[in-house]
Amino acid sequence: MAIRETWATRIGFILAAVGSAVGLGNIWRFPFLTAESGGAAFLVAYLILIVVIGLPVMLVEFVIGRRAKQNVVGAFPEIGAPTWKFIGAIGALAGFVILSYYSVVGGWVIQYIVGSVTGGYAGNAEAFFGSAAEGTNALAYDLLFMAIVAGIVSLGVRDGLERAAKVMIPSVVGLLVILAAYGATLSGASEGYAYYLSPDMSTIVGDAISLLPDAAGQAFFTLSLGMGVMITYASYLGEDRNLLHDSLLIVAVDTFVAILAGLAVFPFLFAQGVDPGAGGVGTTFVGLASAFGTLPGGQVVGFVFFSMLFLAALTSAFSILEVIVSFAIDTFDVDRRPATVAIAAVIFLVGVPTAMSLDYLTLYDAIANQILLIGGGLLLAIFGGWFFASEASDELRRGMPGGETLTTVWIWVLRVPVVLVLAYVLYNGIVAVAGIVGGM
Ligand code: TRP
Repeated sequence: MAIRETWATRIGFILAAVGSAVGLGNIWRFPFLTAESGGAAFLVAYLILIVVIGLPVMLVEFVIGRRAKQNVVGAFPEIGAPTWKFIGAIGALAGFVILSYYSVVGGWVIQYIVGSVTGGYAGNAEAFFGSAAEGTNALAYDLLFMAIVAGIVSLGVRDGLERAAKVMIPSVVGLLVILAAYGATLSGASEGYAYYLSPDMSTIVGDAISLLPDAAGQAFFTLSLGMGVMITYASYLGEDRNLLHDSLLIVAVDTFVAILAGLAVFPFLFAQGVDPGAGGVGTTFVGLASAFGTLPGGQVVGFVFFSMLFLAALTSAFSILEVIVSFAIDTFDVDRRPATVAIAAVIFLVGVPTAMSLDYLTLYDAIANQILLIGGGLLLAIFGGWFFASEASDELRRGMPGGETLTTVWIWVLRVPVVLVLAYVLYNGIVAVAGIVGGM
C-alpha cells in the first residue's frame, strides 16, 4: 500500500484550508449578498452563524478526516460508519454544481484582469459587467478558467498552491485595505458604512430570522463546508494538531477578508448612488470596477487586485475539483489525468447555462448553497453530534489537552441548535428553489 502523503510543512494544512476558504465567496458573494439582503442585519446574522454553525461543522469535518485518513466517501466506512457514505456522494454532487458556476465567475475575473490592461471598464463599469457576465464571452473565459484548474489538479501540484496561498492572502488583504482607505475619502462613504455596519436594533431579531437561510448558505460557502473539502484536507494530517486552534484561525482569517471586502465595496456603491439592493450578482464587480476607474493609478491597482482575486478563486476551485478527483481515483481506480479531464469536462458542460444566463447562475447558486451544502452540513451535524459523538470527542481532544468541557459544549451545540437551524434552512431552501424554478 502506498504511504499516504501528509502536509509537507506544519503550516501547509492551514494554508491549504485558508486557500480553499478565501475566494470569490468572500470578495464577490459576501458583499453582493449583504447589499441585497439589507446590509448590517445580514452581517450580524452571518457573523452569528459563522460561530454557532460554521465552526462546529468545520470541526466535525476535521475530526472525520483526521481519524479516517481517507477521501470523503472512503472516510465513513473507514471509521465504522459505512451507511453514512452517501454524505460523500452529496458532497461530490455539490462540488459539480458549485464549480460549474464558480468557474464562470472565475472567468469574469480573468476578463477584469484583461480589462485592467485595456482600460475596458474605466468609466464604463456597468456596461463592462453586462458584456462580461453572460453569453459567449462568459462561456469562453469559463472554459479557460476550468482548463487552468484542471491543469493544476491533473498535475497534482499541491505545493505550488500552498505557495500561491502564501502570496495571495497578504496581497488580497493589503489591497482591500488600500481600497477601503480610498473609499473612506469618498462622499458616499458614511452612508455606505451606515448601511453595512449599523443594524437597526429594533428589527434585528425579526430580520435575522428571515435572513437565516442566506446567511447560513454563505457561512457554509465561504468556509468551504458541507462537501468534504475539510474532510479531505484533514485526512492528510499526520500529527495531533489542536484542531480547535486551527479552525479558529481559519475562520478568523476568512471572516476578516469578507468584512474587509465589504468595507472596500460599500463606499463605492453609495458614492455612485447604486441601489445596493438592485445589483444582484453584479454588485461587487460594478462597485470595484468603478473604484479602479477613478482611483489614481487605478488600472495598475486593478490589475494587481484582479490577479490576486484570480489566485484566490483558483485555490478555492482547486479544492473543489481535488475532492471529486481524489474520490474518483480511490473509488474507480482510474488514473489522475484522464479522471481530471473527464470530470472537468462534465462540470463545464453542467455549467454552460450559467455562463449563458445570470438567471441560471442564480438558480445554481441557490441549489448549491441553500440545499446541497446545507443538507451536507445537517447530515454531518447529525452524524457527528448523535452517532459519532464519543469518537469525535476523543479525536478532538487529541492535540487539545484538558478540553473536556469544550468538547461537551461542541457536541451539544451540534446536537440541538445546529441541527434545528439547518433543518429549518433546508426546508426554506427547498421552498425557495421550487419557487425560482416555478417562476422561470
Ligand atoms: N470557500 C470558497 C470561497 O469562498 C469556495 C469553496 C471552495 C467552496 N471549496 C468549497 C464552497 C467547498 C463550498 C464547498 O470562494
